[in-house]
Amino acid sequence: MEDHVILGIDVGGTGIKGGLVDVSTGTMRSERLRFDTPAPATPEAMAGTVQMLVDHFQYQGVVGVGFPAIVRRGVASSASNIDDSWIGANIGEVFGQRTGLRFYALNDADAAGIATMKFGAGRQYAEDATVLMVTIGTGLGGALFLNGDLLPNLEIGQIYLRNQKVIAEQYISNKIRKDSGMSFKAFGKRFNKFLSHVDFVLNPDVIILGGGASKYFPEFKRHLKVNAILEQATLLNDAGTIGAAYHAARCARLEGVG
Ligand code: BGC
Repeated sequence: MEDHVILGIDVGGTGIKGGLVDVSTGTMRSERLRFDTPAPATPEAMAGTVQMLVDHFQYQGVVGVGFPAIVRRGVASSASNIDDSWIGANIGEVFGQRTGLRFYALNDADAAGIATMKFGAGRQYAEDATVLMVTIGTGLGGALFLNGDLLPNLEIGQIYLRNQKVIAEQYISNKIRKDSGMSFKAFGKRFNKFLSHVDFVLNPDVIILGGGASKYFPEFKRHLKVNAILEQATLLNDAGTIGAAYHAARCARLEGVG
């Protein structure tokens, strides 16, 4: 396989998606394959799913993985939508022991943000702006960039909104929309409570919406009232996969891993 084609995996609370990514252009070089996230989403069960992705693509080489948790130096330190036994686990070691490959892990929203800033809707704002990427999936993820540099592990789905007893991602997410059969109007209004608050607190120049719900942006954007410039992620749901692969390529280069 060409060395600029890297397997990217986007681990979510509902699905685990992967595909081959050309990291020089930020484009998919294969279809994106998706498996359901096992329940419970333990390290062992998820390593089995990752192995199926590696086998499907008959992949050899370094792998990038976006993971739905705080990821510090490859170690998960939260577990909102996955099994608690992940806390303290080294993600790359868990997947590496099963597959025999070298994995580089980062937070999933950070992965989506990196791809968006490098290859997607964020490119035009990479030089001179604060950009907030928000991913709307099973949970709510965030990635904040100043002039293209990432502030990692922004856990914006964990904040409390006024008059709410649950954290923001338990109040509104793409999963909540789907599970409850919510209209886009109702979704947009709820999501706006979250987004307008985040906009008011962080005051980014630009907010880019990604994740599973972002493909419906035209359906709910009229309900979103923020001061920031609002954009739809052009890479849509592939951003996490592309960003994970790009991250792995960069880390491997820095470490001199071939
Ligand atoms: C997690 C974040 C993650 C987000 C999106 C949240 O539940 O706490 O780390 O980025 O979901 O998957």
